Formats: sequence, C-alpha cells, structure tokens
Amino acid sequence: MKSNPGGQLSPHQIIGRDALIADMWGILEGRSIYMNDLRRIGKTQIMVKMHASPATGWTTAKCDLGGFHTAAEFATQAYRMSLDVLGTKQKVLRRMTDLIGQVKGTEIAGLIKLPDGTPAPWKEVLRRTFADIEEAMVALASTQRMVFFWDEVPFLLDNIAKRESPAVAMEVLDVLRSLGQDHDRIRLLLTGSIGLHHILSELKQHGYNNSPLNRMELVQPGPLAEADAITLADDLLQGDGIKCDERAECARVIADAVGCVSFYVHKLISRLPRNSAITPKSIQTVLHREITSDNNDWDLQHYRERLTPYYGKDEPIALEVLDSLAVTDTMPFQAIRREVAARMKVDDERLRNLLGLLCRDHYLVRTEDNHYRFYLGLIRRWWRLSRSL
Ligand SMILES: Nc1ncnc2c1ncn2[C@@H]1O[C@H](COP(=O)(O)OP(=O)(O)O)[C@@H](O)[C@H]1O
Ligand SMILES: [Mg+2]
Repeated sequence: MKSNPGGQLSPHQIIGRDALIADMWGILEGRSIYMNDLRRIGKTQIMVKMHASPATGWTTAKCDLGGFHTAAEFATQAYRMSLDVLGTKQKVLRRMTDLIGQVKGTEIAGLIKLPDGTPAPWKEVLRRTFADIEEAMVALASTQRMVFFWDEVPFLLDNIAKRESPAVAMEVLDVLRSLGQDHDRIRLLLTGSIGLHHILSELKQHGYNNSPLNRMELVQPGPLAEADAITLADDLLQGDGIKCDERAECARVIADAVGCVSFYVHKLISRLPRNSAITPKSIQTVLHREITSDNNDWDLQHYRERLTPYYGKDEPIALEVLDSLAVTDTMPFQAIRREVAARMKVDDERLRNLLGLLCRDHYLVRTEDNHYRFYLGLIRRWWRLSRSL
C-alpha cells in the first residue's frame, strides 16, 4: 500500500478498527450512533469498512451529507439511496410510489417531484421512505435491518441553516430523531467532525430546545491501536519503497511519533526521503521540519483558527489554557486556574465551562486522576512550536 494522506482508501487498505467496528454493530442492534472526533482521525474510513462488509442481517447505505444544502436535497438523497439499495433486492417502496409514481433511483435528476410537477414535501418523503424501508426489511427476513451511514451531519445542518433557515435545520434534526426512534428496523450511524453542540447552541439562539440525539450512543474512535498503527507504518514503508535497515523499528518510531493517528502516519511517510536510508533519528528530523514549517499541510493551523469562531469572547482564555498545557504535561483544575488568573481575571464557573468545551471539541481530555491534558500529543507539540512557547 502506498501512502495516501487524506485520500479515499479501498476497504482492504483500512487497517485495524475491527474491535470498534464489532462494538458498533452490537450497539446498532439497540440504537443509533453519533460518531464524533477530530477531522482526519479516520471516521469516514470506519464507515467505508463497515459498508464494505456489513454484519449479518444488515443492509447498508452510505453517503456524505456535507454537499447538500437544503432539506429537500437531503430527503431526495435518502430516497434515492433506499431505492438503489432495495431496488436490487426487488423491493418496492409502496408509499413513495403512491406519492410520486414509479421511478428508478438513477432517474431522479434534481429534487423529487409530485406527478403534477411541484416539489414533493421533504418531510413526507422522509417519512414515507422510512416507513417503506421498515416494511421492506420485515418482508426480507425476521431480523433484517437497514443502517444509513450519514457522514458529516453538522455540515448538512449548518448548510441548511444558512441556505434555508435555522428553523428548517431544527426541523431536520427533529425528524431525524423521531424517525430514528419510530423504526426498529432502521438505524442511523451519523458522524461529525465538529461537535453537534456548536450547531445546537447556534440553534438555541433561535429558540431550539430539544436534545435530538440524546438517545443515540456517542462513539469517539480516537487514534488507531498501537499495533495497528505500526502495521500501517510498516505496510506504507514497504509500499512506498523506502529504504531502511530496521524496518520494524522505524515503523514503531513513526507510529509513536505521531501518536498512532493514521492520517499523520500516511503524511509522515509520504515526506520521508526516497533516495537514502531512513533511521529513527532522520524520521524525527523530518517530522520536526514538517510541523515547524509555516505552510505545512498537516491541517494543524485549523486547531488555532477555529478557536475564534468556536470560543468568541473566551478565545483569550482558551489560548491561555492551551498554552499552559502545551508546556506542562497535565494539570488539575486548580493549577490551570492559577495560570489563567496570573494573566487575566476569570470567573471559576466560566473557566469550568470553557474546559468542558475544550474537552468536547477534543483539544483536551481529562485523565483518570482528574487532570487535563492535550488529547493528541502531536497537536500539543505543534502548538508549543508554532507559538514559540
Ligand atoms: N484505518 C485506517 N487505515 C489506514 N489509513 C487510515 C485509516 N483511517 C484513516 N486513514 C488515513 O487518514 C485519512 C483521514 O481519514 P478519514 O476517515 O477521512 O478521517 P475523518 O473522516 O475522521 O475526517 C485517510 O485519508 C487515510 O489516509
Ligand atoms: Mg470524514
């Protein structure tokens, strides 16, 4: 396998994740899932792997929702996917056929229309599609279920809030919740690279008060297991034809240096020299050069830039907290409080809240002994370097 940072992989190139995937199939038996973690951590590839080899009894459909801008586009896509999947199993979507007449998935150009040419109401399309799938699953087998893998739901909601209105985005969320609950044969596996809490707090300002996903299981995949990250590094070193005297040792050093995040494993290996043999030391040198470069393409600047829209007035406090934790491994609340208080006046409750948000946005995690630390070591290292701390 050749390094391909940020590219789409074929299922056999997606290393590891097997235990997590088995867990997720187990969870889906009982309820839907919201999978949230930093972008590039590997969420989409997990879905690709699940979609490529579903557990017994599951029918799957997968789609990235980030490109849709209206509720009607989303509903159309849900119907089109269902038709494509179920059509091949010779199942008819009766309620939808009553609404719009007989069509094939590939024939739907643009939005779904009623026979008189007017657009089909999106909620009605979703309701009927889900009811039809439920019926089709029951007809297929006594335990057959369908799961929609819907990637990047926050982008969809954000797009809809902007193009249509926040009110429509709220309706979409509510419909997702009720459809998810009303159909035992259908599950949703939703992902988001930004926490849904950002979308919800935006919608709350427009009067939204529901907790649409509180029945869903939250899953955070995190980096690869160490052994899998080493296997990935080893495969890529071979695939890219990189010369090294001790490949196993180099693979271990690479996995360790990037905290087992597969995107960074791909990235680092893609930057290693092709003409001379690498060593553990030269690997570290390349990594250092990459993350200190001002125009690196490791997507790290993103963690600095998004603080502004995410934290607004609290941005200076967030910076202070992150700067402190970039130079000290872990800190309990009281120590962070002292660091921040030395620079600015901050109310304890506000600081607690902010720390909670930094954890939900995956900048920080709490350790077992209730200290805070950076979630990813590489981001911490970059943070320290880029801010000259
Ligand atoms: N399990 C894996 N095995 C090998 N490479 C992976 C794996 N997961 C992610 N990658 C690499 O990381 C990149 C980002 O993964 P992706 O699933 O797109 O992240 P996300 O959806 O969380 O933003 C991929 O393009 C690929 O290079
Ligand atoms: Mg993705």
